[in-house]
Amino acid sequence: MALVLVTGASSGFGLATARTFAEAGHAVAIGARREERLARLAEELRSLGAPSVFARALDVTDRKSIDFFRDELADAIGVPDTLVNNAGLARGTERVADAEGIAWREMIETNLLGSLWMTRSFLPAMLERGSGHVIYVGSVAGHKGYAGGSVYCATKAGILRICEALRLETLGRGIRVTTVDPGAAETEFSIVRFSGDEAAAEKVYDGYEPLHAQDVADCVYFAATRPPHVNIDEIKVMPTAQADPWHVARTTEPS
Ligand SMILES: NC(=O)c1ccc[n+]([C@@H]2O[C@H](COP(=O)([O-])OP(=O)(O)OC[C@H]3O[C@@H](n4cnc5c(N)ncnc54)[C@H](OP(=O)(O)O)[C@@H]3O)[C@@H](O)[C@H]2O)c1
Repeated sequence: MALVLVTGASSGFGLATARTFAEAGHAVAIGARREERLARLAEELRSLGAPSVFARALDVTDRKSIDFFRDELADAIGVPDTLVNNAGLARGTERVADAEGIAWREMIETNLLGSLWMTRSFLPAMLERGSGHVIYVGSVAGHKGYAGGSVYCATKAGILRICEALRLETLGRGIRVTTVDPGAAETEFSIVRFSGDEAAAEKVYDGYEPLHAQDVADCVYFAATRPPHVNIDEIKVMPTAQADPWHVARTTEPS
């Protein structure tokens, strides 16, 4: 039994990941900004079999919120064995030349700085214990840029470099570092990207079967449950109908 902390657990990959670990009998800590969703999920995780569940509001862009979450979790259960840095978002599809840039800061603060500060907060205790696993949910957007996604892609490319640096910084100290990099997956991601426009979000998934949240949770679970001497550096996972961020085989033209 391990203690697994999942950020962004109120929806999508994070929610599916929390359920997957709970079903397998692990203790689960969940954080996100929408507390009422977390409270409902916490009940469900207990009924699925998690021996203990810790649920608190968490805003990864706010260091005070992160440190409060860490301290409360330490008092309630302890130091996580696995930290899943999943919270993240894309906003809009502005091209650089026309961008107002209002969402640039939010993407950088959430995806890049948020994951960094989470790691900064939890890694020292893992190092002291001599074991721990930090798993990032990156994206295929970190491997290849696409028009309208410059800043989002940059945040996810940054995660790849952070993972490389972390593996060197923690070498020989019992720490594992993994990035799971999905392609198109139907979650609330596109609804957030298009500011609540559900019709625009649905078009993203027209004419092919995207990944489901569970597909990504399965990858996270696989990486986390290898024996301690095995580090999965990177899992890149896309729908069969997708070759890279921009090339998707659709049976219909997007309307
Ligand atoms: N869906 C895709 O196609 C796709 C593909 C590749 C990578 N990804 C990445 O996968 C991760 C999860 O996305 P998803 O697809 O599951 O989208 P989602 O359904 O929109 O879930 C995003 C989660 O992140 C949380 N979050 C956002 N900002 C936060 C903040 N400041 N503090 C704490 N939590 C925050 C949200 O919770 P609250 O709003 O309640 O805070 C929500 O639980 C993201 O990093 C995303 O970039 C998604």
